[in-house]
Amino acid sequence: MKKIIQLLLVATAGLATASFVGCASHSMSKSTTNSITSAPFGTMPDGTAVQIYTLRNTHGLEARILTYGGILQSLLVPDRTGKLGDVVLGYDHLQGYLDKTPYFGALIGRYGNRIGGAKFTLEGQTYTLATNNGPNSLHGGIKGFDKVVWSAKTFVSPEGPELILAYYSRDGEEGFPGNLMVTAIYTLTDDNELKLQYSATTDKPTVVNLTHHSYFNLTGQPNTDILGHIVYINSDETTPVDAGLITTGEFKSVAGTPFDFRTPTAIGARINDPDVVLQYGPGYDHNWVINKPFGQYGLMARVTDPSSGRVMEVWSDEPGLQFYAGNFLDGTITGKYGAVYKIHDAFCMEPQHYPDSPNKPNFPTTELKPGEKYHNTIVYKFSAE
Ligand code: BGC
Repeated sequence: MKKIIQLLLVATAGLATASFVGCASHSMSKSTTNSITSAPFGTMPDGTAVQIYTLRNTHGLEARILTYGGILQSLLVPDRTGKLGDVVLGYDHLQGYLDKTPYFGALIGRYGNRIGGAKFTLEGQTYTLATNNGPNSLHGGIKGFDKVVWSAKTFVSPEGPELILAYYSRDGEEGFPGNLMVTAIYTLTDDNELKLQYSATTDKPTVVNLTHHSYFNLTGQPNTDILGHIVYINSDETTPVDAGLITTGEFKSVAGTPFDFRTPTAIGARINDPDVVLQYGPGYDHNWVINKPFGQYGLMARVTDPSSGRVMEVWSDEPGLQFYAGNFLDGTITGKYGAVYKIHDAFCMEPQHYPDSPNKPNFPTTELKPGEKYHNTIVYKFSAE
């Protein structure tokens, strides 16, 4: 309800592009107010203008987000000495994102992760999707929500500056049924959280599984690998995959396996373990079943970088967490600050439903029916120790 009121306020205030409130300082000195500003960030091949929005909270944290793909282009958070560092991978220019990106910082939809064989059956009808990962559909297909320009409004709520993105995905887009109206609200809160709240409605039964795909490196030095980052995952079970990274439909206890992060452990400690399912990654690229009641908001994971002291917690009401250790970064991309992104130079933490749920009747459903409202909250919360 609060969000609906906010959306109405934004609409009636006619804040079509940007609002400017408060200080734009990058320093760690406490600014008096939150702020959100916008600037041009290039043009799509069809002439559509892309904007970049800069959100700042009163503690000096800063998030820069594009209307293209809702991409988190940079995220400045303090280390243990208060020094700000950019903790996400990406590009300086729009062209980089248009030419080649493994979903850097993007909003992901309609279906995060893989749908096996790029097919699923819903209410007796089989839908064939675009294939973009061998025979499978990955992250919504060839032109997923990461590759479209979202419309934007801004708002400064008591929680912090908000960017309200909206996208209307037409019936049949990438093979998915139903006209889907999607809203994604990013808030940079004064609790040092980057919060993403999705909602969606459809006019036909469809499947929806939205997530966020930032590549984090908490050192703030993208040339340093993340193998020394310490990970805790609040999970007793994973959903094993086959060689094509399609979930088998089984659940497997993490006990005695390299997937056990119930005791905080360095990412690199067991990443080369011969565990067959781990090496399908190769390395971590799997879904953990989070220990909490279905639909309940709770802590999923905590990642600490011992070198900088930065800590990131992941909270969500989703049932699963895809932890991906940047296994496919291969040195062919040069991103921001001229950094060449190599294997394990970043990790992703993607709260979502389990991969291939539309073909796994024993997994929590991802079906959305007309009259229902999809909702999903993802929070990345930062601190230092
Ligand atoms: C998937 C990986 C995939 C990557 C794309 C992750 O969410 O789990 O398998 O390669 O996205 O960059």
